[in-house]
Amino acid sequence: MSEAKRLAGEKAIEYVEDGMIVGVGTGSTVAFFIDALARLRHRIAGAVSSSEQSTQRLRSHGIEVLELNDTGPLPLYVDGADECDPHKRLIKGGGAALTREKIIAQASAKFVCIIDPGKRVDVLGRFPLPVEVIPMARSLVAREILALTGGQPVWRQGTTTDNGNWVLDIHGLAITDPVAMETAINQLPGVVSVGLFARRPADVVIVGGEPPLLL
Ligand code: 5RP
Repeated sequence: MSEAKRLAGEKAIEYVEDGMIVGVGTGSTVAFFIDALARLRHRIAGAVSSSEQSTQRLRSHGIEVLELNDTGPLPLYVDGADECDPHKRLIKGGGAALTREKIIAQASAKFVCIIDPGKRVDVLGRFPLPVEVIPMARSLVAREILALTGGQPVWRQGTTTDNGNWVLDIHGLAITDPVAMETAINQLPGVVSVGLFARRPADVVIVGGEPPLLL
């Protein structure tokens, strides 16, 4: 699987143009993209990072990491996913970086998602859906999500996000209307963000393989 991730990460380099500030996601597939991006570091203007983990890797390659508040809109965002449906709607947040990932996806003109073939599904929800919550609202949000979706919320104990919050993983979902579920969960007090990327799906999905497949 890591070879498929590497092939997807390297293919995404084709979307990088000279002078760009590139939005960069989080995870093991993105790590391959960052390593490939390092070869172009003198041709790009820098990167906006979705996590401390990616920031460290970018800086270790000498790539300048910029603040989204200073850059304004971005031309390109490259990130992985935990699941991807045929409409390029995603579940993300397995690495607990969902909120910053969502912010950068929203700020970007083109979202290129890089996955291995095992991430493709017909219906989202086999992968437990991550929800970032304000710590004091953890049990309230868990009860409300159970009532709203019928899914089983499990607290990802020991994980604190880069924003100082906690994560609930919702098990047992079959998400037939991802836009409606994203909207409904977003509205619950105490929810910071939900790892459904349906209202702003990917624009291009690269499935790693020989050759890579473009969706
Ligand atoms: C992090 C994410 C990642 O993109 C997702 O978990 C996929 O990770 P990997 O590339 O390691 O399989 O959403 O919050």
